[in-house]
Amino acid sequence: MGEVLVIGGGIIGLAIALELKQQGVAVTVLSRDFKQAAAHAAAGMLAPQAEALPPSPFLDLCLRSRALYPSWTQHLEEQTGLSTGYWACGILQPWYEAAIHGKRSAEAEAEHWLDRTAIHQHQPGLSTAVGGGYWFPLDAQVDNRALAIALWQAAQAAGIDIQEGIPATSLKTQASRVTAVITSTGEWQADHYVLAGGAWSAEVLPVPVSPQKGQMLSVQVPSGEALSLQQVLFGSEIYMVPRRDGLIVLGATSEWVGFSPGNTPMGVNTLLAAAIRLYPAIADYPIQEFWWGFRPTTPDELPLLGSSPYNNLTLATGHHRNGILLAPITARLITDWIVQGQADPLLDYFHYARFQLKDGISGL
Ligand code: GLY
Repeated sequence: MGEVLVIGGGIIGLAIALELKQQGVAVTVLSRDFKQAAAHAAAGMLAPQAEALPPSPFLDLCLRSRALYPSWTQHLEEQTGLSTGYWACGILQPWYEAAIHGKRSAEAEAEHWLDRTAIHQHQPGLSTAVGGGYWFPLDAQVDNRALAIALWQAAQAAGIDIQEGIPATSLKTQASRVTAVITSTGEWQADHYVLAGGAWSAEVLPVPVSPQKGQMLSVQVPSGEALSLQQVLFGSEIYMVPRRDGLIVLGATSEWVGFSPGNTPMGVNTLLAAAIRLYPAIADYPIQEFWWGFRPTTPDELPLLGSSPYNNLTLATGHHRNGILLAPITARLITDWIVQGQADPLLDYFHYARFQLKDGISGL
């Protein structure tokens, strides 16, 4: 394998670049804006079970990635000396009393359900309106920003050429091959290309990936007060992700507003009201930061992985709500595909051709 050019310097692009490099491939990454990538916008939940994904190849993909996380992050931490904040803290999904009769399947209930007494013992401080909930001990979290920084540093230390602030605008093609990536600073060439542009992927190639905005904020447990949240809370209207240093990340809205930037009064108000309702103590915690990001979302909310209409272009985009979770398995499967030509059977389910007719990608 000759040189690979990865379009996208977010967590997916960097994870792929690093895995390729570890297989001896020369890699360049074109990053439009490291700070705007979806990795910064996320909360870092590793939550295939709390997200209630139905049994499917997608759930299999998510579970395989969650299983890779401990060794993947440990390796990164050893390489860089930086923490990724991986924490196998489990995820609690509280249910308000009024909603419990519509709760999930009996099978899940038998395994994971906590009744009113048990859930309040498990997590003191929940709203008294919580009447039960699910406990998913294998779901976990990672500090998405720390992870992105560790990946960046590991990539640089490994000799990957990261070009920051260079947005790709289009592809130059000839017959069934990509011959260059066009950017504002000129053309970039390689033997193979990977499109990992997140929410901005459709600016490069007409893939059906659209930005779904998520607004977020964080609060800090006051100094001297013990961190009483020891697991993620995944409520129906809000999730709350406690970091070990006392920061609590609250998210997130889901909005179809294009790339419209900024936090809005409505977005912030909705998050705060839902968070205070679920876990009233945070009403007095000082607010630290507001931010927003853009999920890369396809019409069926599943990623685009693997081959493309061009022989030397691989797709790794459209991860919607699960980009952080899916980074290690995406890097593994995409690298095996590029370097060894080995297509894991799961890749079939995420092939771009499922949109060929309805979204016009056949015109590529
Ligand atoms: N993964 C959670 C979210 O996208 O809001």
